[in-house]
Amino acid sequence: MALRVVPGSANRALARAVGALLGMDPTVCEVERFPDGELRPVVEDVRGADVYVVQSTGPPVNEHLVELLLLLDACRRAGADRITAVVPYFGYARQDRRLREGQAVGARVCADALAASGADRLVVVDPHTAALEGMCQMPVEMLTAMPVLAAALADLVPEPAVVVAPDLGAVKLAERYAAALGRQVAVVRKIRLSGEAVRAMEVVGEVAGRPPVIVDDMITTGATIKAAVGALRAHGATAEVTVAATHGVLVAAAAERLGGLGVRRVLMTDTLATATGATAALPVTGAPARLEVRSVAPLLADAIGRLHRNEPMDELRLAL
Ligand code: R5P
Repeated sequence: MALRVVPGSANRALARAVGALLGMDPTVCEVERFPDGELRPVVEDVRGADVYVVQSTGPPVNEHLVELLLLLDACRRAGADRITAVVPYFGYARQDRRLREGQAVGARVCADALAASGADRLVVVDPHTAALEGMCQMPVEMLTAMPVLAAALADLVPEPAVVVAPDLGAVKLAERYAAALGRQVAVVRKIRLSGEAVRAMEVVGEVAGRPPVIVDDMITTGATIKAAVGALRAHGATAEVTVAATHGVLVAAAAERLGGLGVRRVLMTDTLATATGATAALPVTGAPARLEVRSVAPLLADAIGRLHRNEPMDELRLAL
């Protein structure tokens, strides 16, 4: 069965890089846009193929999600033999449960919609919730970019650096980074006040006199990182803060917020084009902050190659 990579418009550069590593040009895929906002994607040359549609559902989330659904349906109707949705950043994953009556479980709705549109399988990178796998009828491969970012951090975090989870949800991820880097873990307990505001309540672990390395799955508005940096400094951590997050969602004034924190480095991956775009634009005040992007293209190409050849995936998987 022929292998095809279909690039959605959310991050064509990433899809191109994945294709290049697999030794192929991505399949031709045009997305026509109507004046009223409707999208009409057209894919070519997928009949009988093992197809991987690459599309993160980052901002504008709903537009990219609908485009992905239409792409899956287009591939199915064009006679693709097997269709895998490769969604490096899976939007709506934070809505994995109802916080109060009257809400939807957005992650489940999206997972069902992908399956209903033709996805036989889903590939994601560091999803906000591992519960995503259980929400899907189809097989889900949850990959992790932790080794990619940990390799970049290795030279930046000498002893006595401490790996910090900026909230309780990031503790397991922080433990994995700490194990990879041979460092200890600390945790900031935070509460979320709104979509753009959080408050750090306490710091657990030894941070005084240590340079902190804050790790998270995503940076959206930057409020979580800002609160963590403030709490760590208040508890005596040194000023050389490093931040690493898989997904640079970077909405609202996130880049400005990060630039104003006086952190040493912010590392992200290219699961989202917003992260790549911010590297040039990160405004800096105070200490020189640098935003660096490491690519997940080799990880995705490896995963797609293994899936295509029906080889084991365990080495690439997120093990929480
Ligand atoms: C939340 O639990 C996530 O892991 C991130 O910490 C959060 O989504 C980041 O959002 P923001 O940058 O807006 O604080």
